[in-house]
Amino acid sequence: MTDQTKDRVLIFDTTLRDGEQSPGATMTHDEKLEIAELLDDMGVDIIEAGFPIASEGDFRAVSEIAERSKDAVICGLARAQLPDIDRCWEAVKHAGKPRIHTFIGTSPLHRAIPNLTMDEMADRIHETVTHARNLCDNVQWSPMDATRTEWDYLCRVVEIAIKAGATTINIPDTVGYTAPRESADLIKRLIETVPGAPDVVFATHCHNDLGMATANALAAVEGGARQIECTINGLGERAGNTALEEVVMAIKTRSDIMPFTTGIETKKIMHISRRVATVAGFPVQFNKAIVGKNAFAHESGIHQDGMLKNAETFEIMRPEDVGIAGTSLPLGKHSGRAALRAKLKELGVEVGDNQLKDIFVRFKELADRKKEVYDDDILALVSATADEE
Ligand code: KIV
Ligand code: ZN
Repeated sequence: MTDQTKDRVLIFDTTLRDGEQSPGATMTHDEKLEIAELLDDMGVDIIEAGFPIASEGDFRAVSEIAERSKDAVICGLARAQLPDIDRCWEAVKHAGKPRIHTFIGTSPLHRAIPNLTMDEMADRIHETVTHARNLCDNVQWSPMDATRTEWDYLCRVVEIAIKAGATTINIPDTVGYTAPRESADLIKRLIETVPGAPDVVFATHCHNDLGMATANALAAVEGGARQIECTINGLGERAGNTALEEVVMAIKTRSDIMPFTTGIETKKIMHISRRVATVAGFPVQFNKAIVGKNAFAHESGIHQDGMLKNAETFEIMRPEDVGIAGTSLPLGKHSGRAALRAKLKELGVEVGDNQLKDIFVRFKELADRKKEVYDDDILALVSATADEE
């Protein structure tokens, strides 16, 4: 199957909105502009740039991101209230491709907060989506906490939003409650059941409270969703959102079972991951899939030996494809002779068999005391053993 015959999945990045809602992840105005530019350059289809009514700063950031946007659709978030939607439109209207995203919590717990009956909420949805659509051709609507909303009511409100003019229906798993099979079934059944559903794009928006955000998003795509909402490094409320780098690389790597494509230039992933980690002040965990420091690092002897013979032995992706210079074989107490020999070669050091044996014994002693043995340590062992030869 070629890329042309695979279904395109739109990537909707919400690092600057849901990501920034992570406690402590606030970014400055200039940092937001920089991240938006990187997202646009890497081929993100839709950038959710902020929540314009939330603050004057958010309004200015969304407006300026909209003005500077190149290819991406620029989206702003608005509650189901007319002043929110007007403020959102004021900010996104500067974009070549603006989108208004309006939402309301539809599950019993969320309906209790504004204290609306089911009928009152249905009317509110009709009124606000109609208003947004009168301002903008591109309107996204989300029933917040969709995965804990009663099935009949969910179908009813999705139908109202579609009839009122929503062009994208996003189904949020707001509290990371769903599981992959449910996620796929929910989208599939909505598309099969709700009148008008086949004419709009269904989106999936997953949170990671149970560590299933990536699996749930991919399952939703299998169920028929064609927009994934995600953030760089999985930044987001509580345990975060679906990580952009994970869904994009999963689709690229397993296109044999997931016949989809995205427009993301994957070689740009690592750079943006590092920039988001720095500006948000959220370091990436070492063992994070795709972008963690250890994602392409192998310490144990068996793995290093395998990697030196054939990189595919222990790597399913090429590090270069995500913008990492190459595999790393850090030396530690689990490393073997093959990796030590390769390291010496890399450092331009030639040693005879006896000296290599000697260095290896001392290297193991050192590795037992240190977490990682660095190049300088190896060079020191070379000098020490050379003195004795
Ligand atoms: O998680 C959520 O429900 C949201 C909505 C605003 C889409 O972020
Ligand atoms: Zn969210």
